[in-house]
Order: sequence, then structure tokens, then C-alpha cells
Amino acid sequence: MPESLLEIEDLHTHIATPRGIVRAVDGVSLSVARGAAVGLVGESGSGKSMTGFSVLRLFPTARARIVRGRIRLASRDLLALDDEAMRRVRGGEIAMVFQDPATFLNPVLPVGRQVAEAYAMRHGWPRAREHAIEALALVGLPDPDRLYHRFPHELSGGMRQRVVIAMATVCRPLLLIADEPTTALDVTIQAQILDLLARLRRELGMALLLITHDLGIVAEVCETVAVMYAGRIVESGPADRVFAAPGHPYTQGLLASALSVEETRPITRVMEGTVPDLAALPAGCRFHPRCPFVMDRCRADDPPDLTLAPGHVAACWLHDAAMAGGPAR
Ligand SMILES: Nc1ncnc2c1ncn2[C@@H]1O[C@H](COP(=O)(O)OP(=O)(O)O)[C@@H](O)[C@H]1O
Ligand SMILES: [Mg+2]
Repeated sequence: MPESLLEIEDLHTHIATPRGIVRAVDGVSLSVARGAAVGLVGESGSGKSMTGFSVLRLFPTARARIVRGRIRLASRDLLALDDEAMRRVRGGEIAMVFQDPATFLNPVLPVGRQVAEAYAMRHGWPRAREHAIEALALVGLPDPDRLYHRFPHELSGGMRQRVVIAMATVCRPLLLIADEPTTALDVTIQAQILDLLARLRRELGMALLLITHDLGIVAEVCETVAVMYAGRIVESGPADRVFAAPGHPYTQGLLASALSVEETRPITRVMEGTVPDLAALPAGCRFHPRCPFVMDRCRADDPPDLTLAPGHVAACWLHDAAMAGGPAR
């Protein structure tokens, strides 16, 4: 068993809104081994980003709170750290890259200076410039000495995302959380950035938690996948196994939708409906209103994680041993 790096256990993160409590993360357990690449996948609004933000304890809204659970990094209890200690973890052991590099970069500072600053925050200014130039070279940017002095608006979207990745990796994090890192880019650039992340992972021995709505990206980059639906992981396991034999009807629906797009058949809406309001989750299994296999039990009881194969689990009553012999009426 590879050594575990990140362990999330029964995490609950709530957002207080005028409509009520949004259960953005509602009992997530997830682990990332050292050097591993784990894909966190699901439709928009399922709580993927809030899971990533919870690990960094850095939320887009002051109304978000971690209300329960445990987050450990290399067996340190992150939730026990004070804000100052947590600041050192961010950009040190854990770094994050977001979808839109434009919002992350300061438009009035040269990009190299921004990478140097990311280094200096942790290690001080001596040698920060040197490390920044090395990081710019490592992410595949040409002529890093000159590029150091350029401003964000002088670079293409793909180059800007490389700069952001250089900022995230200049302190050699143990874990990079990449949240839809290629969604804003066109397809060829997307492939290049994914190659870059895979290469950095190998060269820096860094683990990757890749958040995406795109199963194709997970298949390309990750060996483990966790499928998230309405605040919870509904299926997880080795990516090849989950893609070949998905156990949860939600995963099956996601895969079918992805296939129908790829094969350029007329796009049929394979999966009806949308992610439920996380301030008003349905009773029982949260997927039951959209599930083609719904049974009475699904409307009443929330299914636990059931093991389908070693390391492959799905939270679905279809896999309950007591159900073997066919679904009940
Ligand atoms: N800044 C915010 N303010 C209020 N609610 C938010 C905010 N960000 C996310 N949420 C809510 O948290 C839930 C999960 O969102 P998110 O983690 O962004 O989903 P995903 O990344 O899977 O698309 C959604 O119901 C969303 O409405
Ligand atoms: Mg998101």
C-alpha cells in the first residue's frame, strides 16, 4: 500500500445562506496517496470545489464553515492548525490551481515577480528570483529570463496558466489541488496543460487532486477516481475499473453522456434532471429522484458505501448483499 498523504474523513462543510444551510460537502471521505493522481469528478454544483477549498481552509465566501470531519496531511491534523500555521501549509505542502488564471494573477506585476513572491512568502527573498526562473522553465515557458519581466496581459491564456502552475509548484508542494485547470482553455492547450501536470507530478514526486467535470481528463491523468454527487462521494476506485464497470447509476449516467458526446451521435440527454438544491436534499439516496433503478428503499434510506471489488465502492442499494437475487418490488 502506498503511503497515505491526504486523508479526508466524513467532512461536512456548510454555507449559511438566506435560503438556509447549503450542505456543500456532506460527509466526504477521500484519500490521496503520496505521488498519486486522484480525480474528483461530478456535475457542476456537486461540491467539488468546496471540498478542495476545505482542504486549504480558504473559502470564496465568509459564510462557509467546516462543521465536522477530519483532514490529515501526512498524519498532521490540518483542522487543529491555527490560521498562521495553515497559511504556511498553503503554498508550502499544498498548493492549488484554479480554472481562471486571469483572476489569480496580479495584472500590474511582472509574472516572474509573482512567482518569486510565492517562493519568498515561504523562504524569504534571497534566491527567490533564481527559483522563480527555474520554476518558469520547469513549466515549459521559453526564455524564462526575459519572460520574468512580462505582464500577464502580454501572455496567452495557456502561458498564463503555466505561470500560475509555476507559482503553485515553486515551493515543491507534496499535493497540488487543480480545480478545473483546463476548462477555460481551448482543446489543444488543454492537452498540453494536462501533459504538464502529469510531468510535474513525476518530476516533483507531487500528488495531484484533479477536480473536473470531464471524465476524459480523469481517464487520461488519474489512476484513481472519486465521483461526487450532491455533496457526497457516491463511487470511488481504480479509474480503469470504475470506467469499465461503473457501479453507481450516477457514474453510469455520466459515462453514457460522455460517450454520446464523443461518438458525435445525436446527443441524447442520457441523464435527466440536475443536481438537487444542497439546502434541501431529498430523503434517502440523494440520487433517487434521477435514478432509473429507484426502489422503495432508496426513497427512505441513504445507502452506505458498499464494496464491489477491492478498493472499489459505490453508495447504492443495488449492491447490497441482501438485494442479491434481484431488486425488491
Ligand atoms: N461563494 C459561494 N456562496 C454561496 N454558495 C456557494 C458559493 N460557492 C459554492 N456555493 C454552493 O456550494 C455548493 C457546491 O458548490 P461547488 O463546490 O462550487 O460545486 P462544484 O465545484 O462541484 O461545481 C453549490 O450548491 C453552490 O451553490
Ligand atoms: Mg467547481
